[in-house]
This record gives sequence, structure tokens and C-alpha cells, in this order.
Amino acid sequence: MIFAANFKCNLTRAETRAYIDTLGQKRFADDAHIFLFPPATALDRYDTPFTIGAQNAYPAHHGAFTGEIGLQQLSEFEIETVLIGHSERREILGESQAFIAEKYRFFQEAGYTILYCIGEPLAVREEGDSAVADYLMAQFEGIDTDYERLIVAYEPIWAIGTGRAATSEEIAATHAMLRKEIDAPLLYGGSVKPDNAAEILSIAHVDGVLVGSASLNVESFTKIIISIDRIK
Ligand code: PGA
Repeated sequence: MIFAANFKCNLTRAETRAYIDTLGQKRFADDAHIFLFPPATALDRYDTPFTIGAQNAYPAHHGAFTGEIGLQQLSEFEIETVLIGHSERREILGESQAFIAEKYRFFQEAGYTILYCIGEPLAVREEGDSAVADYLMAQFEGIDTDYERLIVAYEPIWAIGTGRAATSEEIAATHAMLRKEIDAPLLYGGSVKPDNAAEILSIAHVDGVLVGSASLNVESFTKIIISIDRIK
């Protein structure tokens, strides 16, 4: 099971270090694979068993890309994992599918583990399962889904940061649809919390969770990780 924490634009470098130290003192099941995505200012060479990834990066080694970070900056901290396609970057930062696919190709060639996010807006969900399937599959345009270091996160936009997770039926139907097309581990994200994590993790074809708000507090993220013990 994969447990990924996306801090987004939250936590300072000092807070991230304290978080990693505290989480490192906990004992988790051997099959709990933990990924942390701190903001770029908090990336570092941490002495930790957890995988540290970048929330975003530019598809270049280095160069004239004001405000961006590239492979050179990530390599300094031995970062080899990147999140690509998050809906906040698609919607707020206006990243197109073509640009997202370019990033994907670049970091695939660099051998990175890629946590690739997809998710539909509410209007599409209300049209029903086949509209959702079409929308999600379009988000794989230009993406090599056979890449062996790919992890996919299904995150319905209307469930992100809203406190309203998708229902178990919605997650089950979507993950079953995705599983027919994709062999990679499939995560669910969108209002995952300590009190719904066990239920979500027990749904067929859910291989883990991507957590935003409820990961910011280390005790809350800990409770989500140890919910693995309740689904065995
Ligand atoms: P949330 O965010 O847990 O706050 O809904 C999830 C995400 O965007 O990855």
C-alpha cells in the first residue's frame, strides 16, 4: 500500500524537517510505502526511510526558466520522484495536456518515479460513468502508461480539499475501469482522512492514497497510514 502526502503550498523547511523526524519515530507495517511531497523550498537530502518527491518540476536539466526548478536542482538532493498532472496545476496554473505529457516524457527518460494525477470536474461526474471514463482516458494522452515507475492517482476535482470524498461505489467503479487499461498501482485522492482511509483502502484496485489536507498534521497522516492494519 502506498501512502503519499502532498503538502502543496504548506509547511516551511523547518516544519518539514520536524515532520519527517516525528514520522520517522513511528513504526509502520513493512508493506506501507510512504512518499512525502514537500514544497520545493523544503527539499533536501533527508536521512529518512520515506521517499521524498517534488510536487512539480520543469522538463529541463537547467536553463532560462524563471521561477522553475529542473533536474539539476532536484539531483542535488537525490530526488528521483515527481508528481505530474495534479489538478491544481492543470486548473490554476493552466498546464495543458501537451505540456504535462512533455514533463512526463522528460522525467520518464530521467528514470524518475512518476506519480501521475488524473481527475474529473463535478459536471463530468454528474454526466455518469462513461463520461468520467472518457474524460480520464483523455488525461493519458501522450503518457506512456507502460512505464514501470508509474503510479497513478485518481483524484476527482470535486473531492479535493472539499471534505467530501467520493463514495466507495464511485471509487470502486472508477478504479475497476482504470485497472482494465492500466497495470500501474492506482491511488485514490480527495478528502482522504483518518476516519475514511480504511474503507477507501479496502476497495478493490485501490493500492494506496494521496493525501493533501489530512497529511499536513503528522499525527493525522500517521493515523491514515496505520489504518492499513485495519484492512488486513
Ligand atoms: P485533499 O487533497 O486531501 O486536501 O483533498 C488531495 C490532493 O490534492 O492530493
